[in-house]
Amino acid sequence: MPEPAATVHPSLETPLSRAASLPVPAATELSGRFRLQRNPRCASDADRAQALRDLHFGAVFTDHMAHARFSRGEGWADHEVMPYGDLALSPASAVLHYGQEVFEGIKAYRHEDGSVWTFRPRYNATRLNVSARRLALPELPEEDFIASLVDLVRTDEAWVPSGRGESLYLRPFMFASEAFLGVHAAGVVDYYVIASPSGAYFTHGLTPISIWVTQDYHRAGRGGTGFAKTGGNYASSLLPQQEAAAKGCDQVCFLDDVTQTNLEELGGMNIMVVDADGTVRTPRLTGTILEGSTRSAIIRLLTDAGRRVVEDTISLDSLVEGIRRGTVTEVFACGTAAVVVPLGRLMGRDFDVEITGSEVTHEIHDRLTGIQYGRLEDPYGWMYRLA
Ligand SMILES: Cc1ncc(COP(=O)(O)O)c(C=O)c1O
Repeated sequence: MPEPAATVHPSLETPLSRAASLPVPAATELSGRFRLQRNPRCASDADRAQALRDLHFGAVFTDHMAHARFSRGEGWADHEVMPYGDLALSPASAVLHYGQEVFEGIKAYRHEDGSVWTFRPRYNATRLNVSARRLALPELPEEDFIASLVDLVRTDEAWVPSGRGESLYLRPFMFASEAFLGVHAAGVVDYYVIASPSGAYFTHGLTPISIWVTQDYHRAGRGGTGFAKTGGNYASSLLPQQEAAAKGCDQVCFLDDVTQTNLEELGGMNIMVVDADGTVRTPRLTGTILEGSTRSAIIRLLTDAGRRVVEDTISLDSLVEGIRRGTVTEVFACGTAAVVVPLGRLMGRDFDVEITGSEVTHEIHDRLTGIQYGRLEDPYGWMYRLA
């Protein structure tokens, strides 16, 4: 069957991007939905300041976490912000056996005037539910998702760092906690949000990364869970990631499982290719890749800047050939954690090519982070004030 012709940026009009642009009630209206049970043992000002001095990713957590519990019959209940701490789980909890779990990743940014904002929270709220549906988990009302971020960030606002490129990384997640070993959709489910102050991904400019394209493993298959943000996708990426590291590469890139020739995405980032004529191409949403919030925002920014943006089937062979011939000038990865990362080297079983360009990558990085940190105007209404 011939490939369908490349389509121009339909990602501007996916159910997710449409949902993300619906209005969200102000944080003042949403706050208080999660009742506060204050941590009697919050970190001291000195300990917190110390923790915020040397930030990495995902290693330090704030004083509180948000929680709600779903049970079949009752629905969602017990919404609260509670002390951060270990969970007590039955060893028979379904998630530990069958991996019925979904999660999200979104950041809170401190602006120059001290206010705290997040980026397109309705996008992540909707995507959590897209993932939840696929994993037979209950959907969480989108306003409750956003309220959980509001209440947690307002409670732990002092943990939002203010250094350049720093943020408070928010990790909402939902899992099957019913204690039952039968393989069925759990009737008891817990939702939590934890928060982790995070350092700048890059401290000295955008450093190019090297990529190992695995031709032995796939992250996802047709009809599977690739489009959902669920732990199993990441579990299956760990061995190929180890393979990439053994080859001396920073990250692994996956190909589609049907033809085994077309580019999909990295373990935790989408991928974009810049052609010499200025066109930007990105793999189409086939159901096996995650529809990134960053990907969607970049498509919008580049399109509105007058660039041709195309969702396409990008074969590995054509990419390697394009890099060799100079018809491909840049390749970059994008996602919430790192924003955008230039790819400097692409390696696989029988190729090893270098990519030197990063002009568009820098341009889009500066524009997007400028909006996120309040340094540039936000004409799209993407930013949402949390505190
Ligand atoms: C597999 C995968 N692809 C892409 C992305 C980028 O998505 P986003 O831009 O929403 O962070 C992520 C990160 O969440 C991811 O885990």
